[in-house]
Amino acid sequence: MKIAVAKEIDASEPRVAVSPDTIKKFKALGVEVAIEPGAGIKSGMLDADYEAAGATISADALKDADIVIKVKRPDASELANYKRGALVIAIMDPYGNEVALKAMADAGVSSFAMELMPRITRAQVMDVLSSQANLAGYRAVIEAAESFGRAFPMMMTAAGTIPAAKVFVMGVGVAGLQAIATARRLGAVVTATDVRPATKEQVESLGAKFLAVEDEEFKNAQTAGGYAKEMSAAYQAKQAALTAEHIKKQDIIITTALIPGRPAPKLVTADMVKSMKAGSVLIDLAVERGGNVEGARPGEIVVINGVKIVGYTNVAGRVAASASSLYARNLFSFIETLIDKSTKALAVNWDDDLVKATALTRDGAVIHPNFQPKTA
Ligand code: NAI
Repeated sequence: MKIAVAKEIDASEPRVAVSPDTIKKFKALGVEVAIEPGAGIKSGMLDADYEAAGATISADALKDADIVIKVKRPDASELANYKRGALVIAIMDPYGNEVALKAMADAGVSSFAMELMPRITRAQVMDVLSSQANLAGYRAVIEAAESFGRAFPMMMTAAGTIPAAKVFVMGVGVAGLQAIATARRLGAVVTATDVRPATKEQVESLGAKFLAVEDEEFKNAQTAGGYAKEMSAAYQAKQAALTAEHIKKQDIIITTALIPGRPAPKLVTADMVKSMKAGSVLIDLAVERGGNVEGARPGEIVVINGVKIVGYTNVAGRVAASASSLYARNLFSFIETLIDKSTKALAVNWDDDLVKATALTRDGAVIHPNFQPKTA
């Protein structure tokens, strides 16, 4: 059985799907690992490190591989190099990309989207949304500190006192919680908001203050799956009035708010941005899903009246070495469930909940119920 690791063809993707650590784990399962040359360089993982861990480096790595692992979904030119029937596992970004899913079906590969992994206890170790969002939340604070012309901690010096930076985190999922923790470690005064009531206690346990309209709608804003619901226009207006006053006094805002399958909610209006002091910084981690901040643009830093709106994409990729190590572990943990330990052969149980939730294509067809071609 052979697993191949593809080098990302997207020049803006510095992450890689394997680490020396997971190569050793694959070898222990009796699986060979072949890697395209230079696949890990941008994550600080050299071909020599991979070879030392037991992998082979080869330009032909993908050709006869039983499983191909990647960070991003392969395009048609990449698929042409894969064996028909191979499993292809990556972060597939399937929503709205039906044409690309059909290309994978046409190439005859069985493809799996890691981000569709169910959030059940057994699959926590495979949860790429969490492993990557956690690092993005951390990095958002580092980016904010880098763009901010002042210090984060309060400093009492002989020359005078510098006040602590005020940081407001909007959306307290995995990324938001890590952003709060990181900003607190840097000495900022941190407040946070979310529409899910469960987050209040989490925010307070990290030493930050919680701010939200806590009405009846708020009390029911969490789905059974633990995600946020889209809030009514009336609630959003009340919440906006409350946060507008607060935002005026903030130095840094980090937004992470998402609702599964919907565009990101707009939480910071252009007027709110204008109300902030020059030198303030907004980091919009939702920018790839439409953005939480009005005026945020993917991949750009927009400056309005001296206020910076930072719209970096792939923020986890800005901590590529850590992001790759964790992603590689997520992948290994999933792939381990697809291999028969005694025969060391591929043994996909198509009835397994993890397989059913993540499998996009098989035997030439798109099989995932959420991405069926629309019938007229
Ligand atoms: P996410 O990335 O989908 O959304 C980020 C945050 O934005 C969420 O906390 C959401 O409530 C918030 N949000 C949405 N609309 C908002 C609005 N209008 N105003 C303010 N905030 C808004 O969330 P993520 O990080 O994926 O976490 C979602 C849930 O899943 C959390 O409860 C988390 O603890 C849980 N989870 C469970 C795991 C498990 O294995 N059981 C693993 C990871 C997360």
